[in-house]
Amino acid sequence: MVEIVPSILSADFARLADEMARVERGGARILHLDVMDGHFVTNITIGPPVVESIRKATKAHLDVHLMIENPERYVTDFVHAGANSVSVHWEACRHLDGTLEMIRSAKAMAGVVLNPATPVEVLEDVLHVADYVLLMSVNPGFGGQKLIPYVLEKVRKLAEMRRVKRLALPIEIDGGVHPENLAEVVRAGCDWIVTGSAIFHSPEPEATVRRMREIAAQATAVRV
Ligand code: DX5
Ligand code: ZN
Repeated sequence: MVEIVPSILSADFARLADEMARVERGGARILHLDVMDGHFVTNITIGPPVVESIRKATKAHLDVHLMIENPERYVTDFVHAGANSVSVHWEACRHLDGTLEMIRSAKAMAGVVLNPATPVEVLEDVLHVADYVLLMSVNPGFGGQKLIPYVLEKVRKLAEMRRVKRLALPIEIDGGVHPENLAEVVRAGCDWIVTGSAIFHSPEPEATVRRMREIAAQATAVRV
């Protein structure tokens, strides 16, 4: 089942509970929370206390994307704050296997994220210790950027690796997805589609989620 995963980065943070309720009414079951530290990426966003407050405001699956240095110091805090899945960047992990294990031991899904320029082949030997893979389709740090087309080829390669290894892990994509390129993204093999500005900057976020879910369902039907 393909999921449209709204990223709250483009929402109005002063009205976050309302914003989340709107996209959930549109059918969103997973919400994407972007954590940035001003080091791994230039931007700064939220930490565990905010995730804890968000947890109290929604029952949705909270998908926390850590764009931070030394993620192993914080993964457990984010799970305790209420994250259902936590992803760490391959580029930020010296001991990726150990960090994924920390997330799993804290009882959340463990995800690994690749920047656009990092080849999917680096995951060859660790795919079985990850619960999902997030492929960045923009350089991380900001919402509202354009999708980098060659990332779709990476999605196809990863989908093939997953098939050969008989693994069922979801492939997530993040950055520059909007209703117009969504079908192509789904057909490439993505399962969790993160989308921020296309939803929250649209006049009716609820209707946009609904529309994107329909487009995704139709594209899945023709997926090979
Ligand atoms: C970018 C973030 C994304 C961002 C996507 O670094 O990881 O989650 O919110 O935003 P859009 O959909 O606007 O590209
Ligand atoms: Zn993200």
